[in-house]
Amino acid sequence: HGELRGVVALDGPSGTGKSSVARKLAAALGARYLDTGAMYRAVALAVLRAGVDPADAERVAAVAATADLVQTTDPEASTTTLDGTDVGAEIRGPEVTTAVSPVSAVPEVRELLVAEQRRIIAEALEQVGGIVVEGRDIGTAVAPSAELKVYLTADAHARAQRRSRQDAASGRAASLDQTLADVRRRDDYDSTRAVSPLRPAEDAVELDTTSLDLPATLAALLELVEDRGLRV
Ligand code: DC
Repeated sequence: HGELRGVVALDGPSGTGKSSVARKLAAALGARYLDTGAMYRAVALAVLRAGVDPADAERVAAVAATADLVQTTDPEASTTTLDGTDVGAEIRGPEVTTAVSPVSAVPEVRELLVAEQRRIIAEALEQVGGIVVEGRDIGTAVAPSAELKVYLTADAHARAQRRSRQDAASGRAASLDQTLADVRRRDDYDSTRAVSPLRPAEDAVELDTTSLDLPATLAALLELVEDRGLRV
């Protein structure tokens, strides 16, 4: 069992089990792990803290330009800090989850974060040789030359079910109907925005996780990595 050489791009909507499996995949491969959603969430939190309306693109861009944001990449202990304090828990809350869609649609925000993501990827390749990058536009925009691109899907019901179990586990109860409506609203928003809409790269492998649990999804990804000869 060797280590990953290169970049694995993992894209897809929320609720596909993407974050959990990306982390496990990176750990299994001795690679770094980059959660790009956490970076968009941290900018959204900075916007809320500044008292700026998330729909005010101009002011959102200004907040993003000055935000002191650090995303680390150890798969067992990745952290997100804003102005020097850990915001890992706060960025998963409902306020940030609502604000992040309009914030991530602002072109200047994407430009800034994509540049930082590319810097982090280059650094990881130099230091350990491999990184698993998770998001919506990794295969299409951030790392178009990734050695392996996987697009995770799952039907909306399965994704809503996973989301509501996660919410319940962290003490944020919502009805399944409400969660399903939210999942559909976000899918629609993310896949129809003008800049980097959510869609599979042409050369991505699509993996439907509707009836796959975490170990089965991980096994499928490890097999793809082996097949591509990326484990050396
Ligand atoms: O994966 P997540 O739920 O943490 O992502 C949070 C939001 O950020 C989601 O609404 C989509 C957006 N996002 C994005 O636009 N591009 C990425 N590469 C990652 C996330």
